[in-house]
Amino acid sequence: MVDYKVTDISEHMSFLEMMDVLNEQLVNQGEEPVAFDHDCREGICGMCSMYINGEAHGPDRGVTTCQLHMRMFKDGDTITIEPFRAKAFPVIKDLVVDRSSFDRIQHAGGYISVNTSGNTQDANAIPISKYAADEAMDAATCIGCGACVASCKNASAMLFVGAKVSQYALLPQGRIEAVDRVKNMVAQMDLEGFGNCTNTGACEIECPKGISLENIARMNREYLSANIKD
Ligand code: SF4
Ligand code: FES
Repeated sequence: MVDYKVTDISEHMSFLEMMDVLNEQLVNQGEEPVAFDHDCREGICGMCSMYINGEAHGPDRGVTTCQLHMRMFKDGDTITIEPFRAKAFPVIKDLVVDRSSFDRIQHAGGYISVNTSGNTQDANAIPISKYAADEAMDAATCIGCGACVASCKNASAMLFVGAKVSQYALLPQGRIEAVDRVKNMVAQMDLEGFGNCTNTGACEIECPKGISLENIARMNREYLSANIKD
């Protein structure tokens, strides 16, 4: 851990803007800036993964680190910032961790195979209930940030994988490959070294997108029925 003193911080700044000011000060002093991940800076990409004062994405609820504002802290506060910690998220440098294990889980089944030759049926031609559409949309809001893993005492990725499995399992287009999808994604999750879920619920509380534990329950049902069908 290294102590830095940052000055000229407005309460309206985002947390990442505060980090920019810190790095500008460090560069001006001829020091190495602190490495951290970011991209969209509007809560979409899931890159800005930091553990702030013992919480993934900091003390606010339903926001990512880039959406967190400095008004959540008091003038003169000491803020402790750490990288997301999990065996499957090795630290690359400072606050940057390698979350490509999530990409490999997605590659194992987080898609549907469609013919895009020009004869594809309009997706809107398939009737979908309002309930299924709403639930699938809620699951699809997962941005793959990894806060669920970082908050979990077991470093479990089940909220993330549950969201990805649910997003397709709820829709007729996703049912066709549902059996292989859940089996392959769960197998890859285990291979990457994530822990198991013990129903603590920290993931749901810290998730910036409000992904519900219901998605883990749905994934477990999908997994059980996929194995019975085999
Ligand atoms: S489930 Fe929530 S916390 Fe986990 S990766 Fe998705 S958005 Fe991030
Ligand atoms: S930088 Fe994209 S979600 Fe924070």
